[in-house]
Amino acid sequence: MNEEGSGTTPAETARAEAKAFFRDGEPLLEVCEDWGDSYRILEEDGKVLIQGGKTGILYGVWQRILDCLCKRRSSAERRSPRCALRMLQCWDNMDGTIERGYSGPSLWFEKGTVSFDPARLRMLGRLLSSVGINVLCVNNVNVREPAQGLIEEKLPELRSLADLFRPYGIRLMVSVDFSQPIRAGLADADPLNEETARWWQRTTDRVYEAIPDLAGYLVKADSEHRPGPFTYGRSHAEGANMLARALRPHGGQLVWRAFVYNCMQDWRDDQTDRPAAAYQTYAPLDGQFDDNVVLQVKHGPFDFQVREPVSPLLFGMPQTRLGMEVQLAQEYTGQQIDLYYMAPMWEEVCRDLGEKRPTILAAVSNLGRDACLTGDPLAMANLFAFGRFAWYNEARPKESAEEWARLTYGFTPAEEEKLVSALLGSRRVYEKYTSPLGLCWMVNPGVHYGPSPDGYEYQSWGTYHRADRNAVGIDRTKTGTGYLLQYPPALQERYGTLERCPEEYLLFFHRVAYDKVLRDGRTLIQRIYDDHFEGCAEAEKMAAELETLPFPGEEKPLILDRLSRQISNAREWRDVINTFFHRLSGADDGMGRTIYP
Ligand code: GCU
Repeated sequence: MNEEGSGTTPAETARAEAKAFFRDGEPLLEVCEDWGDSYRILEEDGKVLIQGGKTGILYGVWQRILDCLCKRRSSAERRSPRCALRMLQCWDNMDGTIERGYSGPSLWFEKGTVSFDPARLRMLGRLLSSVGINVLCVNNVNVREPAQGLIEEKLPELRSLADLFRPYGIRLMVSVDFSQPIRAGLADADPLNEETARWWQRTTDRVYEAIPDLAGYLVKADSEHRPGPFTYGRSHAEGANMLARALRPHGGQLVWRAFVYNCMQDWRDDQTDRPAAAYQTYAPLDGQFDDNVVLQVKHGPFDFQVREPVSPLLFGMPQTRLGMEVQLAQEYTGQQIDLYYMAPMWEEVCRDLGEKRPTILAAVSNLGRDACLTGDPLAMANLFAFGRFAWYNEARPKESAEEWARLTYGFTPAEEEKLVSALLGSRRVYEKYTSPLGLCWMVNPGVHYGPSPDGYEYQSWGTYHRADRNAVGIDRTKTGTGYLLQYPPALQERYGTLERCPEEYLLFFHRVAYDKVLRDGRTLIQRIYDDHFEGCAEAEKMAAELETLPFPGEEKPLILDRLSRQISNAREWRDVINTFFHRLSGADDGMGRTIYP
């Protein structure tokens, strides 16, 4: 056991954590060899027994600690996670930067090497395991030198990270570059070239000698200029299976991302529709992937926008192991400046998926070297909620917000209620002042923070709203791009007509005239104005409420700073977007509020 209270196995860590927390009246722990991640907490005559598998015992101890801090009895039910893989995926580069990172530099890479503060990483291991995360992918999906070396000359460095996280029941995963054999001197990376396959097998065998419990590889191929099987005229099943076969003897998983679309689209082309791309690429390959391949699909068909309908691909591949990817890093959702609690969004995704919910969940990390780890201390609520979501395979927004608030701050019930209601309302507020009614992509290109209504309009990324003086939005029904037809019939019916389509998705699925009267009796243009004015006013109100809370001294200035930046951002969005539509439509605001000329 070391000074931070961890052991060398999860069971030893469980004992050490229990000893440290329950100074007197420590629970009895019993390891049940074949229980895996599951556990049970039994209370009788003031004595507590926690039974659990080799990793489950640790989850049992965390649950008991959580119950004690929340001052409630533990359930005696045997609990098992509904998702076997609960992954956090870090977009950390080896120079120490983080792609889409808003919390400072990487916690484990610096100047091209693995470099970390062991005490801090052990603390992180505790944090991640305490919310149930069991796989950590340590490097960016866009693998750039020298990160290729992590599975070759830098393997000992990768191993040092694996050794550090192992006591917390966390297995490492590594992002690999599909063209890596070329770096090693091979003529090509063609997945059907036997030499390529042999190279991957040899390399992977060596990786597993060093890290026998590596969870596997993560791959971004043929996406945003990354290399992939298309270069050789091969399918993604052929590419993924070749890698999966190298991992198979070691029990490793190959996580293959389905984020494939044409990022060199001509904006004049209104037939190609980016949201349709993943389904078009992958649905025909259903049944062709090996069983240690996970096809990892972003929850929406675009790219982590403020609001998107669920990805149709998640319904379209019944013979394939699917994983779902969410993004804790607030790339399009406020960059850990504006408050945006994500669990309500995941709840909707789960509702729409029903029985089709994948049982493998991954989140793009929001962590970095900042003192509070998440830039905005309140953004930690998203990591906590994701851990719970992946455990239960159910988003539970309110319960997670309450537990997180209670464990983090120990406020009075009235204060806690204020924080929880701000968290629960935050997404809707952000959505109203940025992108109401399913309008996406009006952000500043590249940075993805702040308004720029035409910023992506004439670019190659396939992200157009096509606003003109009469109307805005894209017709994605069968009279338009036909994207809607990728959904099962019930969702086609729900989204397919103006009368039924939920207003949050209106302009995603339909092109609507500004003077069209919506279901609530207001015209589209009036709704656009109203939502932006209201969203901004609600952000101001939410900030005023949060400012009254007694956050700890070191957090308060960070939180206040972010709230004031959120308000400036909200005002900017309100005014820029309202002016944009006012100039185009010529329609005045029915309430006579200020819209700048
Ligand atoms: C977004 C993001 C990129 C990232 C990509 C991905 O497009 O802006 O930085 O690489 O998603 O998910 O691969």
